[in-house]
Amino acid sequence: MGLKVLVVGSGGREHALVWKIAQSPLVERIYAAPGNPGMAKHAALVPVASDDLPGLRDFAVGNRIDLTVVGPEAPLVAGLSDRLAQEGLLVCGPSAAAAQLEGSKVFTKNLLAKYGIPTADFRVFDDCDDAEQYVLTHRLPVVIKADGLAAGKGVAVAATYEEAVAFLREVMEKRVFGAAGEKVVVEDCLTGEEASYIVFTDGEKIVPLPTSQDHKRIGDGDTGPNTGGMGAYSPAPVVTPEVERKAMKTIFEPLLAGMRAEGTPFRGILYGGLMIERGEPKVLEFNVRFGDPEAQPLFLRLKSDLVPLLLQCAQGKLTDAGMEIDPRPTVCIVMASGGYPGAYRKGFPIAGIEDAERLGGVQVFHAGTALRDGKLVTNGGRVLGVTAVDKDIRSAIERGYRAVERIGWEGAYCRSDIGKKALERGAV
Ligand code: AMP
Ligand code: GLY
Repeated sequence: MGLKVLVVGSGGREHALVWKIAQSPLVERIYAAPGNPGMAKHAALVPVASDDLPGLRDFAVGNRIDLTVVGPEAPLVAGLSDRLAQEGLLVCGPSAAAAQLEGSKVFTKNLLAKYGIPTADFRVFDDCDDAEQYVLTHRLPVVIKADGLAAGKGVAVAATYEEAVAFLREVMEKRVFGAAGEKVVVEDCLTGEEASYIVFTDGEKIVPLPTSQDHKRIGDGDTGPNTGGMGAYSPAPVVTPEVERKAMKTIFEPLLAGMRAEGTPFRGILYGGLMIERGEPKVLEFNVRFGDPEAQPLFLRLKSDLVPLLLQCAQGKLTDAGMEIDPRPTVCIVMASGGYPGAYRKGFPIAGIEDAERLGGVQVFHAGTALRDGKLVTNGGRVLGVTAVDKDIRSAIERGYRAVERIGWEGAYCRSDIGKKALERGAV
């Protein structure tokens, strides 16, 4: 009897998870809650929202799910893993206590300071006037972060005092992010190049995925407002083997030891958002899940079966087996609705996905799509993750953009410079 696996979430990351899990000979059936139309080829879509904790528990218990894999952070921070574990079910994803690494910036910064892990110097405030006074004495740019989850919008890198104070008031007085703004972190602005470093861990052992890099801003050349991520590639040449070794020794190992010492061991997928300057990695943030869109290019490179790794994380006994990785680079170009990350319209028919995949070496992962009268239409800000593999990064980028050219809908937008930083670092 094969395994029954439940994937929680509905984005591009979750489509990539379903696509990869479907290749496992260990798996008999995949469910996705709530999923998206791209997943329907491999998974049964379950109409339960990813934040409906009782609904997910009832589904998992009722269908005797062998393994639940949680894509987004919100259900983890809200305690989905704990609820499933209480029912004796296996889940790949940390407890609510350990998910504070993403759910509370104050928790994380205090932990980093306590265990001497490199990160920007910071102060914590729970009073807006005190925070304002301090910010006005801080050198610019100054970074202000709402403590709690804010759907990626809770951070300002303020270039002026006006901007800094305005953001503080939005967060702490107007409470635009609700209780997430009860406290703030004010920290130094780090310079360098960002990269994503994502590992599997059972709380002690660590098995890293290859390196990757996201593109957070909407515009070419990293301009304009932040988004959920406009594209990613792997590997990221900024993370040299030496940087990787340092990240492991100075960040991941002491962090996991710290989490154990605090009585909140971390089991699951740990994503370090790192800032790297002159070969020194520092922590910008942690996420307690796979990156979106980083998962898309990463899974396209992963040759080993993903399921044993997910199972071992869930069981708390990761073996040293490591994983087999395709040496060829991969690139994911996110195609978004025109107007995103601001207001945008939905419901435009999408054409050309099969044509794009016919190029070979291309997988199109769905994010914000829906079926209307049997036709695929846009249904979100980030709509598709067009992901390509090729012999070198330049060819992977070219293949990805050739695939993008074959896909279209009214107002479709993508950045035209995904992967450029790798080329600038001399990767071919
Ligand atoms: P976070 O959610 O903490 O990763 O912040 C979101 C984004 O803000 C990061 O990906 C960085 O681009 C930027 N950021 C956060 N903290 C800093 C910092 N201390 N210095 C410079 N940029 C930062
Ligand atoms: N790609 C950024 C994130 O997953 O948070």
